[in-house]
Amino acid sequence: MFITLEGIDGCGKSTQARMLYEALGGSRGAVLTREPGGWEGGAALREAVLGGTLRHPWSELFLFLLDRAEHAARVITPALEAGTHVVCERYHDSTLAYQVWGRGMPFGPVRDAALLAAFPKPDVTVLFDIDPELALSRVAKRGKPDAFEGEGLAFMRRICEGYRELASKDMERWLVVECGGRTAEDIFSETRRRLMDKGLAL
Ligand code: TYD
Repeated sequence: MFITLEGIDGCGKSTQARMLYEALGGSRGAVLTREPGGWEGGAALREAVLGGTLRHPWSELFLFLLDRAEHAARVITPALEAGTHVVCERYHDSTLAYQVWGRGMPFGPVRDAALLAAFPKPDVTVLFDIDPELALSRVAKRGKPDAFEGEGLAFMRRICEGYRELASKDMERWLVVECGGRTAEDIFSETRRRLMDKGLAL
């Protein structure tokens, strides 16, 4: 199964990704990966895109798509073909939420890019939904913000709205888990139960 985890910065995705990966048997049963930069060679690209030095509005979008294309070809598709579960932190829905809702890029072409490039489609996408103010207050404690974290509350609110809209249009694929004021264990036990309802053996 191909499972993607989404949410704004500071929603707690990384902790949940790790817990899910462990519950799937760790490296015996799954591959844990992330975007941007989840492939060999991806680190430089990650730095370029998160460093905040890009000038042309389309550069960022193209870099995320390039990253995804290589990540899909080198990591995701081979793992799925080998029958391994893939848990991926951020995927094409991040591009829709951040570059379309966040940056104002056009929805149709960005959505279609994933189809044209034949990116593997997630079986399930979990949205870790959280109040943007709470998420940003967590991010602030982590130290120097990256190019996206430094954009502020209005930006995060648009992304949050984007995610909610994407999820509401495809409830077959999406699971929305509310994260505000809950422990990681509590959030994971709900996520686990709902993934099992979708047919994942956990
Ligand atoms: P990262 O530090 O990995 O984020 P996280 O907060 O999930 O640990 O940085 C990824 C940043 O890049 C994050 O702010 C979201 C953004 N992003 C996009 O804008 N578009 C994309 O397609 C992807 C994959 C990420």
